[in-house]
Amino acid sequence: MNIAILTGATGGIGAAFVEYLAKEKLDQIWCIARNQKKLDALKQKYGQVIRTFSMDLSLEQSILDLQAVLQEEQPSVKMLINNAGIAIIGRFDDFDLATTRTYIDLNVKSVVLLTEVVMPFMDSGSHIINMSSQSSFQPLPFINLYASGKAFIRSYSRSLNQELKGAGISVTACCPGWIDTPMLPKEYNGVQIKYPGLSQPEEVAKKALKDAKKGKDMSVYSLYVKAQHLAAKLLPQKVVMKYWLFINRKIVQTKKK
Ligand SMILES: NC(=O)c1ccc[n+]([C@@H]2O[C@H](COP(=O)([O-])OP(=O)(O)OC[C@H]3O[C@@H](n4cnc5c(N)ncnc54)[C@H](OP(=O)(O)O)[C@@H]3O)[C@@H](O)[C@H]2O)c1
Repeated sequence: MNIAILTGATGGIGAAFVEYLAKEKLDQIWCIARNQKKLDALKQKYGQVIRTFSMDLSLEQSILDLQAVLQEEQPSVKMLINNAGIAIIGRFDDFDLATTRTYIDLNVKSVVLLTEVVMPFMDSGSHIINMSSQSSFQPLPFINLYASGKAFIRSYSRSLNQELKGAGISVTACCPGWIDTPMLPKEYNGVQIKYPGLSQPEEVAKKALKDAKKGKDMSVYSLYVKAQHLAAKLLPQKVVMKYWLFINRKIVQTKKK
């Protein structure tokens, strides 16, 4: 049985991935998220090819439960997309310990654990896509935890891609800029947030799948994000951080009060 596993399948980018995966020759698409009603809606839309798993991936037990299903059914996993994630935007003192732990457990730990659990069921020609972000290109004060987590995912994915070359499995870090999904907060401490270069989830998902099939270790959508990537490589990181603080000065000032 040939399958794809997609986390965060009910979200903005996840839903776009399902749309493309449904056109592939797959026996099942394993869709993971917490909200069963939203998962049911996917099943209604795409039919029997969708198999749903209502799980909180910030809990290690969920990964172990999925491992047990894999061991029982022995599918061939053609595609793993670690897409589930939450945004955590603010200064270090905006979050309590539980929020910080949940962020790291979902955006970082679950990606590594799920990848390790799924890898034994992949073979030559299989692909892994991990959702990183443009925010991974440099340190970003005031979205520090989010950007640092995404930097981990990018670095982890690119190294793993090298390690898996012999096995014929590709690992792609998808590094988009801002995408128009429910994840993006509209304001911070009463200050409206603007998202330059906003792109659509369908464009990002399409490019990520294309780049994964080409075996690329990074997928960067849009000229705007490519230019940011180049700037982050060429300029000293202190300069990039200062620029970031300048364009977000209204937000920074709410914290200086
Ligand atoms: N939007 C952007 O601007 C942007 C830019 C760069 C990268 N990204 C990354 O792209 C990925 C998807 O983002 P998105 O914008 O599509 O977000 P989204 O619309 O908020 O969707 C998030 C998805 O993750 C699931 N999810 C959240 N917490 C979960 C948990 N604890 N366990 C299992 N599933 C969980 C959600 O479903 P349930 O709530 O039902 O669990 C939903 O399906 C994230 O990794 C994000 O960091 C987003």
